[in-house]
Amino acid sequence: MSRNPAQRAAELRAELAEHNYRYHVLDDASIPDADYDALMCELVALETEHPELQTEDSPTQRVGATASRDFAEVVHDIPMLSLNNAFDDTSAEDDAARFATIGDFVRRIENTLGLSEPEFSVEPKLDGLAISLRYENGLFVRGATRGDGAKGEDVTSNLRTVKTIPLRLRGSGWPAQLEVRGEVYMPRAAFEAYNAKARESGEKVLANPRNGAAGSLRQKDAQETAKRPLAFYAYAVYLPATPEQNLGERHSAALAQLRDWGFPVAPEASTAQGFAGLIAYYRRIGERRDHLPYDIDGVVYKLDDYAGQRTMGFVSRAPRWAIAHKFPAQEQSTELLDIEIQIGRTGAATPVARLRPVQVAGVTVSNVTLHNADQIARLDMRLGDWVIVRRAGDVIPEIVKVIPEKRPAGTQPWQFPDRCPVCDAVLVRVQKVKKQTKAGIEYEEGVALVCSGGLFCPAQRKEAIFHFAARRAMDIEGLGGEIIDDMVELPFLRDGEASRCLRSPADLYALRLDDLTELRRLGQERSGSVPETVKKGKVPTRWAENLLDAIEKSRSTTLERFLFALGIRDVGESTAKALARWFGNLDAVMAATLDELRAIPDVGPVVAGRIVAFFAETHNRDVIAALRAAGVQWPDAEPQRIAQGVLAGKTVVLTGTLEALSRDEAKEKLEALGAKVSGSVSKKTDFVVAGPGAGSKLEKAAELGLEVWDEERLLGFLAEQSS
Ligand code: IVH
Repeated sequence: MSRNPAQRAAELRAELAEHNYRYHVLDDASIPDADYDALMCELVALETEHPELQTEDSPTQRVGATASRDFAEVVHDIPMLSLNNAFDDTSAEDDAARFATIGDFVRRIENTLGLSEPEFSVEPKLDGLAISLRYENGLFVRGATRGDGAKGEDVTSNLRTVKTIPLRLRGSGWPAQLEVRGEVYMPRAAFEAYNAKARESGEKVLANPRNGAAGSLRQKDAQETAKRPLAFYAYAVYLPATPEQNLGERHSAALAQLRDWGFPVAPEASTAQGFAGLIAYYRRIGERRDHLPYDIDGVVYKLDDYAGQRTMGFVSRAPRWAIAHKFPAQEQSTELLDIEIQIGRTGAATPVARLRPVQVAGVTVSNVTLHNADQIARLDMRLGDWVIVRRAGDVIPEIVKVIPEKRPAGTQPWQFPDRCPVCDAVLVRVQKVKKQTKAGIEYEEGVALVCSGGLFCPAQRKEAIFHFAARRAMDIEGLGGEIIDDMVELPFLRDGEASRCLRSPADLYALRLDDLTELRRLGQERSGSVPETVKKGKVPTRWAENLLDAIEKSRSTTLERFLFALGIRDVGESTAKALARWFGNLDAVMAATLDELRAIPDVGPVVAGRIVAFFAETHNRDVIAALRAAGVQWPDAEPQRIAQGVLAGKTVVLTGTLEALSRDEAKEKLEALGAKVSGSVSKKTDFVVAGPGAGSKLEKAAELGLEVWDEERLLGFLAEQSS
């Protein structure tokens, strides 16, 4: 930074001019608004202190940048001016000091007009794009952007696509010529939906709703604009034939009139009395900011009485009768310190950006979850970069872009690691399944990385053990969520001299009563309640004995249950069953190649890949060996490479109460014949088995004209198949 004021002013002018051009002409803001405002404040201060430094082309002397040449030029009969901004002094002790600028603003009006506590029109300050709409004899004839305030761009055909802009006025009594001004904006939900879609199809995402609105209005093809969900709110009105006159006496009444003529006006627009009224409004809207359906960057106070406005007049670029009271910025820049990989309970590897902590809209942000590796590559985020962080509404903070100008020298593109940072197993690229139909599997766009450490990875351990013990897997009764949490977190197992936590399901088979006693003691100690009986060493042992029994019982299982229990990604019960039948023994499954696996009906290339990756991981093989060594066993069988069961490809729904069979038994028997048993009735259902008490599913089946079986028919059919 230069110390010489003249040099610094020139520097600031050049920098602001460049940002202005990027923001207004290219719709590609290079810095967050808050940083821009800070530069502008610095220049205004310098020029106030040294008036001789002010130049005609200083950005303090005008409103925006010049119009681009792509659209016809519109000269604004009444210039589109800007508002002065007021920021809070957050270090201040009381409201008077905190809101000093607002105090000065109100006092100046009171003193000039000789009033006390004047009435203001108070409105949200929408974060979109200012536009001007011309109506002649009640018809919309021309719409323009603000441009530099004197000249804008003719975007009439694009504005016609904005559904909330009236093309013809309602009611009557409107003047022959009318100019209405307001903000075109993109509602938050529409912005999120647009970006979700763009992300999925790999298109450019919008940095924020304001950019979305600006970019959409500047489309050369109005059909494109029409696809973007834009909206409009009116906040000002002029009479071009008699510019010195206003529509009525008061601004709030003019807004009400506009509403009657069919213009949307922000529902939060209201009136308030004097300084205290303004601050109360600021606080009220501030509290609701996160829940509004659109982005706002502050509130606007306007002297309500038009005659008073005329007396107050303007100073250079802004009215003296209005001011924008800004909220803390929703975008801030900060430094990207690191990108770490977090492994979720299902093994999904999620990159998380560690940032130099920064206040964004009143909240300190230091970690931001990134969507996936694609986002890092798309934005070309590198360690040491300055990035723009955005936090708007209830939406979690996001990194919207990198500031290329601030990139330090010598940075390298970031590379996704190829191993799990927790267990060092290979990270495999997987596509998330979007929906699975008879025709095949549909995948989501983009890939996710998943740790293949499965049973061993500490990050996945709880989930893996929970799944292992589940009823349809190893069926260890009594081994549920909380006990597993304790087992994985508390050092209850004696390992020589030391103690340790449960590392893999194989450890379950070595548990003794003492271990469980210790587990209970540690658990109660941690939760702060140690019952007397425990202190005296007398522990209720029934639950522990029952658990040990259940573990013991699970030692004898079936190959398909065991395969399912391993928790191989996308290997559900039916795939586990298919594998068990096809190969007959575990060694054959573990040794199977991709091609061998793909030969099995119902095993597609993706699932085959997951199976091979799982068994290739040493940790997983070790856990399996340990389980077998601990005595977990099942009967092997002859491989059954038969094609398919009689119900292959059929989808069946069970509903109501069955008497001779439990639902699970019926399901198992139907699946053994190749059927898919589903929980909901749809067009794709082949038949429904309904017992007494069947309700909505049976109704739906009747509606769709599906075949319905009673239990007797099911039993008859099953008997026929097994004979
Ligand atoms: S009145 C002469 N009212 O804020 C006063 N402006 O710097 C003209 N804005 O570009 C503006 N909400 O796009 C006014 N309720 C509101 C507003 C509003 C947003 C924007 C407007 C303008 C900027 C003022």
